[in-house]
Amino acid sequence: MGKVAFWLLGALAFAVQASETPGIGYPEGYRDWRHVKTMEIKPGHALYESFGGIHHLYANPEAVEGYRSGRFRDGAVIVFDLLEARHEGNTLAEGGRKVLGVMVRDARKHASTGGWGFEAFAAGDPKRPVVGEDAAKACFGCHAARQSDNYLFSSLRD
Ligand code: HEC
Repeated sequence: MGKVAFWLLGALAFAVQASETPGIGYPEGYRDWRHVKTMEIKPGHALYESFGGIHHLYANPEAVEGYRSGRFRDGAVIVFDLLEARHEGNTLAEGGRKVLGVMVRDARKHASTGGWGFEAFAAGDPKRPVVGEDAAKACFGCHAARQSDNYLFSSLRD
């Protein structure tokens, strides 16, 4: 659990410093990209504190090609869109946006984190990046375990 406590809590601590670092840009237009998958993380899950809610993954055309070929070229972008989960009656609906996570492929620039740049925007606000130069600790700590799958957890389905 310890290494997970970044998304929202640690995120705030780094907000100021991150905003001064020219980093990964906000993924403009990602809602028009390819939907990869959706998942809900419920209370009681080990990652609930950081990732609780509904998340949708989106891939731009370069990333779609990467999922299919197993080789991600520079410019591939994958988005992790985390929303509150609202249970009402026997339904599950999306609530407000908690955070927007982004992975951007640039093999040379981000060589120290597997060729992927990481950023997250609090509440999906382009003006509130919260990772900055802390990607190695805040994000890559987990993704590093997925080296044999291009540092990704997900795969594309039809
Ligand atoms: C506690 C481990 C953990 C940490 C820390 C973590 N991730 Fe992930 N990440 C995951 C898991 C697990 C998935 C797969 C979710 C799914 O399959 O729906 C994932 C998926 C993703 C994806 C979709 C691509 C993929 O790998 O499937 C993006 C983008 C992403 N994370 C960005 C980030 C960013 C940005 C950070 C840092 C702010 C971060 N992650 C930190 C575990 C983590």
